[in-house]
Amino acid sequence: MIEAVHVENFKALKSIDLTGLPQLAVFVGKNGVGKTSLFRIFSFLKSCLSENVRLALQHEGGFNGFKDVITRGVDESKSIVIQLKFYLIIAGKKRLVTYHLEIGLEGKKPVVRREILRYKRASRGGAPFHFIDFSNGKGVAVSNEEDFSKPDIELTREEQAVDPDVLAISSLGQLKRFKAAKAFRELIENWHISDFHINEARGKKDQDLGAHLSRSGDNLPSVALRMKEDHPEIFETVLQKVRERVPGISDIEAKTSEDGSLLIRYADSAFKDPFFDFNVSDGTIKMFAYLLLLHDPKPHKVLCVEEPENQLYPELMTILAEEFQEYASKGGQVFVSTHSPQFLNAIPLESLFLIEKDQGISKIMPFIADPLVCGQIEAGDKAGYLWEQGMFEGFSRRVDR
Ligand SMILES: Nc1ncnc2c1ncn2[C@@H]1O[C@H](COP(=O)(O)OP(=O)(O)OP(=O)(O)O)[C@@H](O)[C@H]1O
Ligand SMILES: [Mg+2]
Repeated sequence: MIEAVHVENFKALKSIDLTGLPQLAVFVGKNGVGKTSLFRIFSFLKSCLSENVRLALQHEGGFNGFKDVITRGVDESKSIVIQLKFYLIIAGKKRLVTYHLEIGLEGKKPVVRREILRYKRASRGGAPFHFIDFSNGKGVAVSNEEDFSKPDIELTREEQAVDPDVLAISSLGQLKRFKAAKAFRELIENWHISDFHINEARGKKDQDLGAHLSRSGDNLPSVALRMKEDHPEIFETVLQKVRERVPGISDIEAKTSEDGSLLIRYADSAFKDPFFDFNVSDGTIKMFAYLLLLHDPKPHKVLCVEEPENQLYPELMTILAEEFQEYASKGGQVFVSTHSPQFLNAIPLESLFLIEKDQGISKIMPFIADPLVCGQIEAGDKAGYLWEQGMFEGFSRRVDR
């Protein structure tokens, strides 16, 4: 679980500090304040890991890579900094691990200026120990971490070299003996950033037996079929929820057609023949896909969803908010961005964060930092109504003081 995020000079986020992140964190803010930028940090790290920093910057910014991604107006000799604190089980013990990454330009090439993975020996006291510490492709990694808790054993530091635009955790993570790097790498690979596109989820699909719903949702038929075959009781629960919430839908069937491709058929109680998914409404597909995602028998360690309210009618947001909470309570950490008052109304106060721009700079604050907001909510008001009423204007200044 991610405990804290610190970012400098990444897109709209010139400098942000998020600490004490809960299992479910919901970010609300006007257009252009930096919600997507915040979520892009996760996809950016994921693509740094699977490719390299140069390509990840190009995906993020476009042709100019680094220059598009570093916050506009910041000197290009400065670094983009991303620092995450998270809990990981390493060698049988739960540790608060810090991963620190600085990316800068060397001539025209983006390089990893510094990359550190560190954690403390005991839960209290003691300086954190750098298990991985690299600059510009050169550095050291500790390879006998299992001896960490034995004070009389010297830790072995190995000098290593990687390409300057490749993450050390990416190449060292493949080596079993670098336990922290491996565990962190697995955490990043497992986190899921949903960018659901209804049109990609529609239509017949060739066999794709991926177990998890993909980022765009384009393997929806395959995930549905697999759920139906491997976990019929969960599939039935999802189905029941769709039946209750989408008027007219009486059944959903996921199957392999004669030509071997996968498809989903929907049945409407008012009509005799079932119809294929290209004829069903956008909202039905989206609700079905979200329910499959949120009932995944193996929840993602981190799940990011942007604006789940699009295409769904307001009352559904209350139900979806409960589904997200349920998912988070099973151990998957969830980050959601939203503009939906109904969604906010259904989320507990300690999960709510406001993003706003103050003099052009994005700031993120937990709702609980503002006594005024807490007082209103304790008195029975709801966060979504307060948001609609413009109660959060100047929030960060009020709270900063
Ligand atoms: N390198 C950059 N430096 C500064 N600002 C940037 C950079 N790249 C993008 N931005 C700006 O960041 C702003 C915030 O964008 P972002 O997409 O994060 O907002 P959002 O909160 O998701 O908004 P919406 O609710 O409209 O989706 C945009 O105005 C965009 O122009
Ligand atoms: Mg956005």
